[in-house]
Amino acid sequence: MTERRGLFLNFEGMDGCGKTTQARMAAERLRKEGYEVLESVEPGGTPIGQQVRRILLDPANEELAPRAELLLYFACRAQNVEQWVKPALDRGAVVVTDRFTDSTMAYQGYGRGLGREIVITLDRIACQGVAPDLTIIVDIDLETSLARARARNRTVADNHETRMDEQAAEFYRRVRAGYQEMVQLEPHRFAVVDGRGDIDTVARGVWQAIQGKLPRHD
Ligand code: TYD
Repeated sequence: MTERRGLFLNFEGMDGCGKTTQARMAAERLRKEGYEVLESVEPGGTPIGQQVRRILLDPANEELAPRAELLLYFACRAQNVEQWVKPALDRGAVVVTDRFTDSTMAYQGYGRGLGREIVITLDRIACQGVAPDLTIIVDIDLETSLARARARNRTVADNHETRMDEQAAEFYRRVRAGYQEMVQLEPHRFAVVDGRGDIDTVARGVWQAIQGKLPRHD
């Protein structure tokens, strides 16, 4: 393997936590400081990943089996690592991704109950040892996340909505507990930033976490 010179950051958290905005702001700031930055998003990222994303997030694909879903997330990621992330790190860039394997661990491993082992195994295959140096979790509580998710899904019929809400609440409870356990297992890789403040306050917390990890550049 060639020696990695760049820095790999991923932004994580529950749906609606604001990490997409924060990832964008961090990338902007890094560019201003003179770093070459590659921004990416999962699921999606590369043009091929975008095609897989459409399958994953299409509500018509209700029948998608949990293991098939899991493999599709990793298919996106394998393409992203090969085509964009690894080459960028090898040339010394800072890579900023909106979600990475930690999302799969939280949502599929914990949320869907597939477990940690299968996610770790597939990560090894898909990512070939490419892993984040720093993972920023933009942390919001369950109620805020559910309220934001509900606001996105207003069209669902009322009676149906109650049942969906209960299922969603259980699922998101497991996702959030998953993120918390992941932080405990690897405290040095994670920075948990309170996502309840205004955008600039959260951004300051994020920047503090990043600063300590930045490689020198001339
Ligand atoms: P997206 O529209 O990007 O939402 P968000 O802005 O909240 O990230 O959709 C991503 C959804 O996919 C989100 O609900 C989390 C989920 N997801 C997984 O379940 N597993 C994964 O590995 C990834 C990358 C995302």
